[in-house]
Amino acid sequence: MKNTVVTFQQMKDKGERISMLTAYDYSTAKLQDSAGINGILVGDSLGNVVLGYPDTISVTMEDMIRHGAAVSRGAENSLVVIDMPFMSYQTSVYDAVFNAGRLMKEGRGQAVKLEGGEEVCPQIKAIAQASIPVMAHLGLTPQSINVFGGFKSQAKELEPAKKLIRDALAVQEAGAFAVTLECVPARLAEIVTKMLRIPTIGIGAGAGCDGQILVYADMLAMFSDFRPKFVKAFANIGPAMMDGFRTYDEEVKAGTYPAEEHTYPMQDEVFEAIEAYADEMSK
Ligand code: KIV
Repeated sequence: MKNTVVTFQQMKDKGERISMLTAYDYSTAKLQDSAGINGILVGDSLGNVVLGYPDTISVTMEDMIRHGAAVSRGAENSLVVIDMPFMSYQTSVYDAVFNAGRLMKEGRGQAVKLEGGEEVCPQIKAIAQASIPVMAHLGLTPQSINVFGGFKSQAKELEPAKKLIRDALAVQEAGAFAVTLECVPARLAEIVTKMLRIPTIGIGAGAGCDGQILVYADMLAMFSDFRPKFVKAFANIGPAMMDGFRTYDEEVKAGTYPAEEHTYPMQDEVFEAIEAYADEMSK
């Protein structure tokens, strides 16, 4: 059954937990979709995972559109949410609606996600009024890395925790259909989850959220640049890939790959004629 923003709300209302993962390409999206993952986020974490940047700041609209469209082609039943990259919505309400529209029309997403609380509510309201579902993102918002001074957990003290609650209520009021809570104390995330009508999707925010999301390359142990505390390796794909690459390297160098069964046959008479032709041509 197709997951939509309506089914996400129904899941929260029924107390059913929502599963989400990031993906950046067609084949991974197809596997996640077949596994029954409710939602796929084409995260701007593609800046780290796919493009090798140290942060998400350099990710462009063109990056998000290209990878969004690839994921959308692979996702039949999962809800596809595409991240709005840095400076595609902060600059003005007009830019926010225009760029969210591009992610829907060209990236074929079914929703967009943007980072921030009260300060981006005019953008959330305008995008939602343009019939584009918006997911908000609070707590550790990676596009603000230069303000935070690093990837650090957020809202551990009283005042920042109160601000997060105000932000969560504000984005809900502005029309967000869900909110991602990243790297905040589990007890705070649980309070916010109980206060909101809309679903919360946690990443490093404990089990009290309505759903969970992880960067797929982290949960498959494929990404080794850094490993946040909340990541669990659900499969050791990184080491398995490394084994495969090493064995290939060894077999190519030993001449044992490709073997007979990996080659295409040729009839004897064609072969003999080609040999004669090759002799002729090399004179
Ligand atoms: O870009 C991303 O992958 C995200 C998740 C960490 C929620 O925003």
